[in-house]
Amino acid sequence: MEIKTISENKEDFMDLLLLADEQESMIKKYLGRGELFVLYDDDLKTVAVVTKEAEDVFELKNIATYEQYQGNGYGSSMINFIIEQYKNKGKQLLVGTGDDEGILSFYKRFGFTYSHTVKDFFIDNCDHEMFENGKQLRDMIYLKMDLHAK
Ligand SMILES: CC(C)(COP(=O)(O)OP(=O)(O)OC[C@H]1O[C@@H](n2cnc3c(N)ncnc32)[C@H](O)[C@@H]1OP(=O)(O)O)[C@@H](O)C(=O)NCCC(=O)NCCS
Repeated sequence: MEIKTISENKEDFMDLLLLADEQESMIKKYLGRGELFVLYDDDLKTVAVVTKEAEDVFELKNIATYEQYQGNGYGSSMINFIIEQYKNKGKQLLVGTGDDEGILSFYKRFGFTYSHTVKDFFIDNCDHEMFENGKQLRDMIYLKMDLHAK
């Protein structure tokens, strides 16, 4: 297994990035300014994008594993790699997600805790309704991690 940083032709990974974020126009915006990480285990399994949001504050904007490879630990390996990469670069790592227990508990395993809520984010920012496990997504829940504690 190998995780690489990609700095050219980042849009080649758009199919996988779209799994975590359906708005291609939004992805293009943060992909340009963010760092793209790709995990290969023989072939491509997982991607992630991290942006700098403020001095000492980074945000995990996108993480996705191809559906047929989910549940094999690739997403966890990617998050642990990102924590290692950023723990000496900043104070805080944020991640924003829909209000879904499955994905929230996935992040909390790594030490993310609740930060704040952006009310109606998915209603206001998406051109169509979005669902997770049959429930319509409305609010964006932000979780935070203290990188200095890592
Ligand atoms: C979230 C994601 C990247 C995790 O990648 P992965 O390679 O499957 O990660 P891992 O195998 O390390 O861990 C997956 C664990 O998280 C849980 N999990 C992740 N997303 C979940 C969800 N939406 N609902 C329920 N459980 C979820 C899995 O059940 C699994 O638990 P287990 O280890 O007890 O079996 C992957 O599920 C994915 O690509 N999802 C679609 C895109 C997405 O929603 N991205 C996040 C946007 S905020």
